[in-house]
Amino acid sequence: MRDVPAATLNAALLQDALTGLTASPKTLPCKWLYDAEGARLFEAITRLAEYYPTRTEMAILPVASTAIAAACGSGVAVVEFGSGDGSKVSVLLSVLDRPSAYVPVDIAAEWLAGAAARVAAEQPGLPVLPVVADFTRYFPLPAALPAGPRMGFFPGSTIGNFTAEEAAGFLGRARDVLGPDSWLVLGADLVKAPDILEAAYDDADGVTAAFNLNILARLNRECGTDFDLSGFRHAARWNAAAERVEMHLISRRSQWIDLAGKRITFAEGESIHTENSHKYRPAGFRALAERAGWVAMDMWTDPKQLFSVWLLKAA
Ligand code: AVI
Repeated sequence: MRDVPAATLNAALLQDALTGLTASPKTLPCKWLYDAEGARLFEAITRLAEYYPTRTEMAILPVASTAIAAACGSGVAVVEFGSGDGSKVSVLLSVLDRPSAYVPVDIAAEWLAGAAARVAAEQPGLPVLPVVADFTRYFPLPAALPAGPRMGFFPGSTIGNFTAEEAAGFLGRARDVLGPDSWLVLGADLVKAPDILEAAYDDADGVTAAFNLNILARLNRECGTDFDLSGFRHAARWNAAAERVEMHLISRRSQWIDLAGKRITFAEGESIHTENSHKYRPAGFRALAERAGWVAMDMWTDPKQLFSVWLLKAA
């Protein structure tokens, strides 16, 4: 154990690590992959040749957005769950008829500021009302939001990182937050050949490996652990039964670390399961959305049917 200054110690990460690393099998919640270094590495992943989701969704969005704009009419307020870098919502905002406001929602105030500034510069005159909130829980929309229809926007297939129960919970809450007569535009990655999926999550340049290993580096920085990163290797596995890509960190040898006074041992070959990325079939996604109070109005995909963008309407 190394000393971490009290101001840097991350008590919530420490608690999650204690729970996950003393469980069997060992796990760490994927939300901890995203500190500043993790966000930088994820950004690099989105530009990799093997990682098709971002560029495929960006190719679908212009076509989908034009149809969405025609279906939804004028004056919608766009609420983005997870603010991203603002590039995807720009495609949508630029074709909507007189959107009434843009509401980026994110738990990280600094990321929110970036998306808000980008959209404000690109859409002069559009009210931008950022909300610092954890969108995996209920949160109220800003009181200053003009009356009128709301449109949720949740691109990137981030829904795939939720369990089935969490995905249903998110969709149901989004319906409650956005209210009656609302819309939801959502990106969902599709089931496809395992070799395409495993390459997307285990690229030749090792960027995804660095992204995954950064969770151990983060534990060292913020919880004072002594993980030797060279003692673990990244693995991406397609779990066909659960229709998800799993990221794991596999211990290369038998080893131990100390975490808050507790000794945690790793057998050679033992895994820490760090992320699930669920892939959907159109019929399965439609059923999930409909169980959560939405009607699937339309779906767009690419010629290879790698990725889908959905327009849902509150039932
Ligand atoms: C953020 N999320 C949708 C990504 C995904 O594809 O599941 C995270 C990711 N993990 C490894 N590569 C990308």
